[in-house]
Amino acid sequence: MRFSSTILLALPALVLAQEQIPLGEKVKGWINKAQSYVSSAVPAVPSPMDAGAAKVAKRVEHILTLDNWKSVLIANPSTTAAGPEDWMVYITGGNKTCYGVCGNATKAWNESVAILSASPTAPSFAVLDCENEPLLCNSWAVGPPTVYYMSIPRPLADQSSPAPTVRYIPLNRTSVTASDIVALSAKKTYQETEPYEGIWHPFNGLLAEYNLSLPIAYVSWGMSKMPSWLPMIAISFLSRTFM
Ligand SMILES: *[C@@H]1O[C@H](CO)[C@@H](O)[C@H](O)[C@H]1NC(C)=O
Ligand SMILES: *[C@@H]1O[C@H](CO)[C@@H](O)[C@H](O)[C@H]1NC(C)=O
Ligand SMILES: *[C@@H]1O[C@H](CO)[C@@H](O)[C@H](O)[C@H]1NC(C)=O
Ligand SMILES: *[C@@H]1O[C@H](CO)[C@@H](O)[C@H](O)[C@H]1NC(C)=O
Ligand SMILES: *[C@@H]1O[C@H](CO)[C@@H](O)[C@H](O)[C@H]1NC(C)=O
Repeated sequence: MRFSSTILLALPALVLAQEQIPLGEKVKGWINKAQSYVSSAVPAVPSPMDAGAAKVAKRVEHILTLDNWKSVLIANPSTTAAGPEDWMVYITGGNKTCYGVCGNATKAWNESVAILSASPTAPSFAVLDCENEPLLCNSWAVGPPTVYYMSIPRPLADQSSPAPTVRYIPLNRTSVTASDIVALSAKKTYQETEPYEGIWHPFNGLLAEYNLSLPIAYVSWGMSKMPSWLPMIAISFLSRTFM
């Protein structure tokens, strides 16, 4: 991935211009930062970048919900590029779904989105928050913090769509850095992960094909809401009835 300064300038400029913040120094810092990410030496990320990164992230990433994910995760027909459209879906959570320890990974994600979005070969970005969307997370059988890397082919001339390739890449919630996440796309390290082809595949897994992912998600979500003594009572009740 090559960083051209003009493209690099465009995005942060857009975001910051809105707020009438003087650009000069800030943008220079961004360029240096981005360049240091693509070279192998990776310094600790200074905090002034965080605010800007979160703003860029917010602007370029799509928030997935149970209702919208099928219409969001597509190969955009208005871009003329050949080949599949790549989506990086960041799966995150909060106190309940990530035990409150997704903060570092989310910070790294925000920074890598800001950096990657400056590249002409950037994938598209989406975020799935399991705290808000427990059913969607259950129906894909995914948990945070993870990057779900999806390559979604463009529809063929006859309107049929070849199967998307998805790769499930868990992040180390303690030690993951922005440069790890940037490398997934920039250095194509996502290819080190085998595509996932099991029954929970969001697009063409067995459960999705039989329209079962959602009902099963409801069941497992319900189980997680159910007090732990309830199944035991139910089982003892049932076994007594049958004996
Ligand atoms: C990451 O960016 C989002 C906006 O997309 C923001 O709500 C969140 O607070 C940021 N998180 C961190 C840890 O920077
Ligand atoms: C998550 O837990 C922390 C510490 O227990 C608490 O301070 C924070 O308010 C909680 N956040 C939410 C959204 O409940
Ligand atoms: C987040 O990073 C800080 C400093 O790098 C570390 O001290 C902390 O333990 C990390 N938090 C989690 C939840 O791993
Ligand atoms: C995550 O990183 C920490 C610190 O580098 C390491 O001790 C731990 O084993 C890693 N966890 C996993 C699941 O790889
Ligand atoms: C699943 O649902 C879709 C649309 O609701 C329908 O077209 C398809 O036939 C269903 N598949 C099965 C196996 O029931």
